[in-house]
Amino acid sequence: MGATSLAGRSALVTGASRGIGAAVARRLAADGVRVALMARDKAALTSLAHELGHGAVGLACDVRDTDTLTRAIEQLPDLMGDMPDIVVNNAGAFFLAPAQETSVAAFGETLAVNLTAPFAVIRTLAPAMSRRGNGHIVTIGSVADRHILAGNAAYASSKHGLRALHEVLRAELRGTGVRVSLVSPGPVDTPLWDAVVTDSKPDSTSRSKMLSPAAVADAVHYVLTAPWELNVDELRVSRT
Ligand SMILES: NC(=O)c1ccc[n+]([C@@H]2O[C@H](COP(=O)([O-])OP(=O)(O)OC[C@H]3O[C@@H](n4cnc5c(N)ncnc54)[C@H](OP(=O)(O)O)[C@@H]3O)[C@@H](O)[C@H]2O)c1
Repeated sequence: MGATSLAGRSALVTGASRGIGAAVARRLAADGVRVALMARDKAALTSLAHELGHGAVGLACDVRDTDTLTRAIEQLPDLMGDMPDIVVNNAGAFFLAPAQETSVAAFGETLAVNLTAPFAVIRTLAPAMSRRGNGHIVTIGSVADRHILAGNAAYASSKHGLRALHEVLRAELRGTGVRVSLVSPGPVDTPLWDAVVTDSKPDSTSRSKMLSPAAVADAVHYVLTAPWELNVDELRVSRT
C-alpha cells in the first residue's frame, strides 16, 4: 500500500495563527498543499500566508460567529479554485475552572469555539467532499476527550462532544471516500499554556516536557498520508 500524496491538494486549517494550527499549515505547505488559514489574528495569518507561499490565503474570522465562518469558507472556491479537500478543525479555547466556578457564559463560549464551530465547518465542507467521493476531515481532540480531570468542566465537555461528533461523522461517511480522523494530543508547548503557568504547579507537565507543535503536525501528516484504503480513526499522541 503506497502513501496518499498531498501534492496538489488544498486544505483549510482553523486556528492557524499560532501553535499547533500554524505548525500543521507549515507541514502541509511543505508537501505542496495550498492552505487556507483561519483565525482572528489577521496580521499573523497574512504573515504566515506570505511565509508559506504556494497560494496560501488567510481568512480572518471569529469562529464563534458561524454565519461569518460559513461565508468565509464559501469564498474559498474564488480564492483557491475549489473547496478544500482537507480540513483540519484545530481552533480551540482552553478554559480551566471547577464546574461550580464556571459561568454559563464561559461554558457556552468554550463549546462555541471547540464544538459548534467545527460542526459549522464540517457542515459547509462535507457536502462537496461527499459529492467528489474524496476528502479528509481531521479533528484535533485532546487527551481530555476521554480523560477526566477536576477543574476541566467546560474544556472536557467540549472535547468529549467533539470526539462524539467525529465518531458520528466516521459512521456516516464510511465508504464514501471521505476519510475522518481524530488526533488527540497530550500537553503541547503552545501559547495556550501562557495563562496557565504550568511550571508553578507541581502536578502539571512542565512546558519543556510537552510535545512540540511540530510533532503534532507530524501526527496530522501521518493520518493524511496513510495509504488510501487505511482510515486512521483515532490517533492519541503524547511525549515519549
Ligand atoms: N496545547 C495543548 O497542550 C493541547 C493539547 C491537546 C489538544 N490541544 C488542542 O489543539 C488545538 C490548538 O491548540 P494550541 O495549543 O495550538 O492553542 P493556541 O496556541 O492557543 O492556538 C489556538 C488557535 O485557535 C484560534 N482561535 C481561538 N479562538 C478562536 C476564535 N474564537 N475564532 C477563531 N480562531 C480562534 C487562535 O487564533 P486567534 O487567537 O488568532 O483567533 C489560535 O490560532 C486546540 O483545539 C486545543 O484544544 C492543545
